[in-house]
Amino acid sequence: MQYSKKVLQHFTKPHNQGEMKRASGVGMVGNPVCGDLMKIYIDVKEDKKKGEYIKDIKFETLGCASAIATSSMITDLAKGKTIEEAMKITRNDVADALEGLPPIKMHCSNLADDALHEAIRDYQNKKK
Ligand code: FES
Repeated sequence: MQYSKKVLQHFTKPHNQGEMKRASGVGMVGNPVCGDLMKIYIDVKEDKKKGEYIKDIKFETLGCASAIATSSMITDLAKGKTIEEAMKITRNDVADALEGLPPIKMHCSNLADDALHEAIRDYQNKKK
């Protein structure tokens, strides 16, 4: 299986890995096919100009190389984005930013965008 240089970089040195103690929202998803798990924590703040945005983001993933690399990449893509912008990040954006994933590994990137969107929904529900 051929991994891109970007995937290998993010797998061997993941960005924003770890737990966040006081997160505004947490999203956890599992892959029913392989049993892998991904958890995303977001810290949402209010900015006068741009509104609510993701000030900080972290992930914990028990999974394959692609799951770790997509987790790391999605935290980079979402950091600093508004809630609306982050909601629009798709699995293809993550795969493209990683310079592609092997086709049989594309399902692994579903976890990353699902977990991010779940964390945002959790934040929005807590606010109600
Ligand atoms: Fe499970 Fe990649 S094989 S997420």
